Amino acid sequence: MPGFKHRDSTGVAFWDERFEQAFMPWDRAGVPEEFQRFVQQAQAPLTTLIPGCGLGYEVALLADSGWDVTAIDFAPAAVAAAKQALGPHADKVVQADFFQFQPATTLQLIYERAFLCALPPAMNEAIASRWAQLLPPGGLLVGFFFIAETPSGPPFGIAREKLLSLLQPNFKCVEERLVEDSITVFAGREYWQVWQRKV
Ligand SMILES: C[S@@+](CC[C@H](N)C(=O)[O-])C[C@H]1O[C@@H](n2cnc3c(N)ncnc32)[C@H](O)[C@@H]1O
Repeated sequence: MPGFKHRDSTGVAFWDERFEQAFMPWDRAGVPEEFQRFVQQAQAPLTTLIPGCGLGYEVALLADSGWDVTAIDFAPAAVAAAKQALGPHADKVVQADFFQFQPATTLQLIYERAFLCALPPAMNEAIASRWAQLLPPGGLLVGFFFIAETPSGPPFGIAREKLLSLLQPNFKCVEERLVEDSITVFAGREYWQVWQRKV
């Protein structure tokens, strides 16, 4: 593992130096099966935001399926790598801070993978309340949640009770399954969940 100068994962510099050195142990190098299935089974394209997109593999799947997708990341090195990897879909990736970003149109879907667990537990409430602010009633928060007790991070696991207490005030869980194609770091502790924004 390379030696890194930055240890605070709330800062841009933390992520930039890891992307610059291609040290990305969270990266799945593709779209997880549960999300592929979700997109295939959706009845209509959904206006989608991907916060903290990293290399943004999901962008190509969504754009090729006719979905309106915006992927954001606050780290310039992540944005540059994603744009390069996405070629014709590079314009879907925007450098922006999740906590400041204002979508151009009303969202129908937020996709979560390795963003909640990338930031320390002290940020959990801010993330959950921003998800709730960004989605209208009926909107969906879908993706992958690392439910685990971890002494340190990232990735920072979250206890199931904590996740429920964060989300249940504004969302209803309508689907949950243990993920079967997790990368090693998440294996056996990663859950696919679909949450619907309450009225
Ligand atoms: C662990 S990586 C996950 C990347 C991607 N979602 C994936 O599954 O491969 C976390 C990402 O969140 C980004 N990030 C962290 N804080 C952010 C913020 N406040 N706004 C936007 N992006 C942020 C980082 O730059 C990094 O690319």
